[in-house]
Amino acid sequence: MEKNKLYFDGCDVTELAKEYGTPLYVMSETEIVNRFAALRKEFLEKYENTRVAYAAKAFFTMAMAKLAEREGMCIDVVSGGELYTALKAGFPPERIEFNGNNKLAKELRLAVKSGIGRIIIDGFGELAKLEAICKEENRRMSVLFRITPGIKADTHDYIVTGKKDSKFGFPPEDEILMEQIRQAIESEYIDFKGLHFHVGSQLFDNRPYLQALEVILELVKKIREKFGVEVSELNFGGGFGIRYTDEERRPYAYFLDPMMERLEQFCREESFPHPAVVIEPGRSVVGEAGISVYTIGQIKDIKGVRKYVSVDGGMTDNIRPALYQSVYSGVIANKADEEKTETVTVCGKCCESGDILIRDLQVPVPEEGDIFAVFSTGAYGYSMASNYNRNGIPPVVLVKDGKSRMIVKGQDEEDLIRNDLLPEDL
Ligand code: LLP
Repeated sequence: MEKNKLYFDGCDVTELAKEYGTPLYVMSETEIVNRFAALRKEFLEKYENTRVAYAAKAFFTMAMAKLAEREGMCIDVVSGGELYTALKAGFPPERIEFNGNNKLAKELRLAVKSGIGRIIIDGFGELAKLEAICKEENRRMSVLFRITPGIKADTHDYIVTGKKDSKFGFPPEDEILMEQIRQAIESEYIDFKGLHFHVGSQLFDNRPYLQALEVILELVKKIREKFGVEVSELNFGGGFGIRYTDEERRPYAYFLDPMMERLEQFCREESFPHPAVVIEPGRSVVGEAGISVYTIGQIKDIKGVRKYVSVDGGMTDNIRPALYQSVYSGVIANKADEEKTETVTVCGKCCESGDILIRDLQVPVPEEGDIFAVFSTGAYGYSMASNYNRNGIPPVVLVKDGKSRMIVKGQDEEDLIRNDLLPEDL
């Protein structure tokens, strides 16, 4: 390794910047593969009848679908776009599971026609819509019902999804839920499998998961009492936290072992057959596998106030600091070993004062032309990118052991006007 340079999965980051330009997303294949391996070791191989459905929303491209397939994963999609991407990449449809609070008729139809594995019913009217489509297509679909267990997880409010006051899922005590489950059980087009919950995202505590599981197990009992049907599948969602700056990451087993143990005990005590268990990790697979690479441009030193260091991207390629006040860390990639003598605020180039990537970061003396890398941007960075200010979305490069290849082309100006029309009367 050359001194004073940042390396990522064997690649000199300054060389990547030269080769592909900046801004640039870089994803480490080794890190992604290691996470999938951890999921296999700590969950799939440890417990029978389990599946991991990688949550595509965190980061998804056709290449990512290939990686997930190769590593033995299923995929959780939440839109027709994600579903289409997976199908186009040749991902086995039976390993696709479809979440979302307002699946459109055309999305449901694509799901039914392509024969995906599961649909997670998320709202009062969805079952009837799905049933009608299955009837028209003469296909059966396996479903779970998404339950909002009413647990308040300790994370940013926007990414709490399991509490009662939520646009997602069914409150467990709701009679409508029982009515819908009855319909699903009785329908010849629907195969009722079980229940799904997702407590929130970027979590470090296993207690909300266990609390949610209690709510779900009560419901499992109620369903048997009422309909004589034993739930055959449970989905625990995702949400496992990662390291952005100084958070301490927990192994998957920390979350999953106590849940599997509790489920085991429940099945023993209540004489239930052990259901299949599915999890949907997104961020914990790709978050730390990504960095964002920028070139430093204008530097504005407001004496006694703040030194702003501008980069050639910003909230368009990483909305998380502006949207959730998320805190990131970064380094000057071509000054990796130099002493950090300055405190700067790294900001983007968008016309928006809130376009700040990192506040009060310690760095060596920054200069125009330096390469700046932000860590842990692999999840919800590229997937939440926008064209605000008509900035193009940067390319994505996948690196492994010193080799790199592009998996998403960057958008140029032509891409930005591609769908624009100029009506003749203008
Ligand atoms: N399953 C369901 C049903 C979900 O709603 C989510 C995330 C996941 C799985 C994956 O969660 P993960 O393992 O990635 O935490 N844009 C936000 C995160 C939104 C998460 C929404 N649901 C952010 O950038 O923090």
